[in-house]
Amino acid sequence: MQPLRGCNMLQLWCLYESFVKLLKAQSCRRTRSNTFPILEAEGTHNFCKLFGHFMFFHRDKFTTVPEVMEDKGDYELYSPNPQVRGMTTLDRTAFRKTISVPVLQVKNEKVNKLVKSLNHRMIQRSGLRRMLEDLSDKGKKLVLLDPHQISTENSFDESDHTVLKQLEISPHVSKYDLELTYENFKTEEILQAVLPEGQCVTSAFSRVGHIAHMNLKDHQLPYKALIGQVIIDKNPGIKSVVNKTKIIDSTYRYFKMEVLAGVDDMTTKVKENNVSYEFDFSKVYWNPRLSTEHERIVGLLKPGDILFDVFAGVGPFAIPAAKKNCTVFANDLNPESYKWLLHNCKLNKVDKNIQVFNMDGRDFLLGTVKEVLTKHLAHLSEKEKALHIVMNLPALAVEFLDTLKQLLTEAPGSSAILPTVHCYSFSKDDDPAADVRRRVEAFLETSLEGCCSVHLVRNVAPHKEMMCLSFQVPANVLYKNYANQEQADEPLPKRPRVLEDSCAEKNRN
Ligand SMILES: C[S@@+](CC[C@H](N)C(=O)[O-])C[C@H]1O[C@@H](n2cnc3c(N)ncnc32)[C@H](O)[C@@H]1O
Repeated sequence: MQPLRGCNMLQLWCLYESFVKLLKAQSCRRTRSNTFPILEAEGTHNFCKLFGHFMFFHRDKFTTVPEVMEDKGDYELYSPNPQVRGMTTLDRTAFRKTISVPVLQVKNEKVNKLVKSLNHRMIQRSGLRRMLEDLSDKGKKLVLLDPHQISTENSFDESDHTVLKQLEISPHVSKYDLELTYENFKTEEILQAVLPEGQCVTSAFSRVGHIAHMNLKDHQLPYKALIGQVIIDKNPGIKSVVNKTKIIDSTYRYFKMEVLAGVDDMTTKVKENNVSYEFDFSKVYWNPRLSTEHERIVGLLKPGDILFDVFAGVGPFAIPAAKKNCTVFANDLNPESYKWLLHNCKLNKVDKNIQVFNMDGRDFLLGTVKEVLTKHLAHLSEKEKALHIVMNLPALAVEFLDTLKQLLTEAPGSSAILPTVHCYSFSKDDDPAADVRRRVEAFLETSLEGCCSVHLVRNVAPHKEMMCLSFQVPANVLYKNYANQEQADEPLPKRPRVLEDSCAEKNRN
């Protein structure tokens, strides 16, 4: 950690992001088990690992990192009129502004060659044309130069001058009054200009189909309608902008939301990991930030495996698993989730592989899960099928684990496979992995030493992590009469693939 001390956190974040992007571009793979996203690449693994640890220990400091890093010069030149400050109803015409930009007068036939050779000196801003008709001379064009680099002909370096000489273009730089309109400004520039000076501007949103989902701060609320409209204007495909209110439905985990701008239609369609889902975003739980986690768990399954999804939502674990030819039993207590889950099974043509239930998770575990396990466990051989139970209700799932205690009465056959549970939980502890394991062990009343793995899913808020603890249910927990069985002294079945990685605590050392 020593060399990283004294660095600006923002710079470190940028460095890390660039590094990750670079590695991704080189098609590096993610490790299967990690305490923080750590990337594998020859010669870079240690750096990433070190950075992973650094980020993990300083995770609370990274939640407010702005999405867009500002170039101050760019901001001053391209900032809208100061009169827009305080505007609460969007008036696009008020953003008109004239700036003076340097231009070269170039004969029509030489323009293309010049742009090729002096591309780096041209105005660098998407949405702005680099060439304009020269109204004083039909045979010429005005080539717009970057005002940050060029003010007079002395701004050109030697090689620029050589190019201009070769093309017989005069290096004389004149000024052109360029009108900027609302369309030319970026979202941040508009909001920066409108909202009170010195206060945090965020235009960050999660996209769920045609809906942009924001989480505005109190000081932004007076501008909420304007913010919503700007998001719609600047993001093709976004038709509604909603703000998450502080009210969360305590049972079904969806947020109450307020439409800030656009259409009040919350029935939307999204694609995640190549699977389509439709649902009413105002009535069910959907979080686009979980797509990697859904993919990770489904990646652990093999065709023929059995998946029980206790808190299935609209199906982001269940449907891809069924598409992979697993047999799926998916449940959700929310009647709306159940309705859309059924709909999505049909939409993805997997209704044959899924049975869908609408009941409390506890009843599902004590009923359907018990029934299916009883029927299948004795006949399974390890080569054939694995059993997985996914429990993604991080606020409460741990408390459902006691249902697994003595769930089955029959003695395990020698080839029986114990189900693997993936149980999600939030933790605010300094050591979230140990905290979650401790709580799971308390509900199971057994130690999971050496037979569980913990995965950091995401940082939810400062000092609040979402974790996934995966473990194979110990036979002495699952079977009522296990202690009395002759097989009790026999070695337990092998641990499944997911548990081959050691616990997160070990990974971090
Ligand atoms: C955090 S969401 C997860 C949904 C989905 N698995 C996903 O990954 O997006 C939890 C789900 O559990 C459902 N739920 C809440 N309490 C429940 C209970 N007691 N029994 C069954 N489902 C429940 C909610 O309706 C919600 O859809």
